[in-house]
Amino acid sequence: MINFIDVCKDTPYIRFLDFYKRAILKKQRNIEAISISSFNDNRKEVESRYVNLKYIRDQEWIFFSNYHSPKSESFSSHKQISAILFWESINLQIRIKAKIYKTDSDFSDYHFSKRSLSKNALAISSFQSKPIESFDIIKDNFENALKKKEILTKRPDYWGGFSFEPYYFEFWEGGSNRLNKREAFLKDKKIWTHSYLQP
Ligand SMILES: Cc1cc2nc3c(=O)[nH]c(=O)nc-3n(C[C@H](O)[C@H](O)[C@H](O)COP(=O)(O)O)c2cc1C
Repeated sequence: MINFIDVCKDTPYIRFLDFYKRAILKKQRNIEAISISSFNDNRKEVESRYVNLKYIRDQEWIFFSNYHSPKSESFSSHKQISAILFWESINLQIRIKAKIYKTDSDFSDYHFSKRSLSKNALAISSFQSKPIESFDIIKDNFENALKKKEILTKRPDYWGGFSFEPYYFEFWEGGSNRLNKREAFLKDKKIWTHSYLQP
C-alpha cells in the first residue's frame, strides 16, 4: 500500500488516485512496487530496480534505501530518473519521468521510527549491493544488529528516503483490439499540458 499525505490536486494526481482506487478494488498485489531506472553518469550505464513506494506527499514520491548503494551513486551523478508501474488487475501501465533527491532527514527519521525493529536491523547491518562471502555472514550481521536494541531506533546516516517529483506521466490503459488509451501529462513552468498518444 502507498501512504498518501496531502496529495497534490493537479489532474495527473487525480487520475493516479482514481486508478489506484480501482486497482485496490481489484486486489492488485504489490501495488507499491515501482521500477526506478537511473543513469550513472560516471560509469555511463543505465540500471533499473524495483523499490516499494511508501508515500506520496503532495508532489513528492518517496521510497527508502541505502545512501551508499549503487542507485544512490547514480542519483547523485544524474538527477533525472524514470519510473514505471504495471497494475495487471486493471491492465494499466504508468510511466513517469522525474528529478530525484534525498528526502528531508526529519521525514526519514519519522519513517524509520515507525518501522519494525527487524527491518531496521537489516537496514543497519547491510552494506547494500556490496559483495560478501556467504549468506550466513549476512544472517550473522543481521542477528548481531537485532541484539543491539539501542541502535535499532536511531536511523543511520547511510539510510533514508529518496524523493522524486514527476514532471511527466503517461497512463496506458490496455484495450481490446490493441485500442489502447494513452494519456500523457507534461509539466512546464508549473502547468501540465495533456495529450493523447497513438497506440
Ligand atoms: C518488489 C521489490 C521491492 C523492493 N523495494 C526496495 C526498497 O524499497 N528499497 C530498496 O533499497 N530496495 C528494494 N528492493 C531491492 C532493489 O530492487 C535492489 O535490489 C536494491 O535496492 C539494490 O539496488 P542498487 O544496487 O541499484 O542500489 C526491492 C525489490 C523488489 C523486488
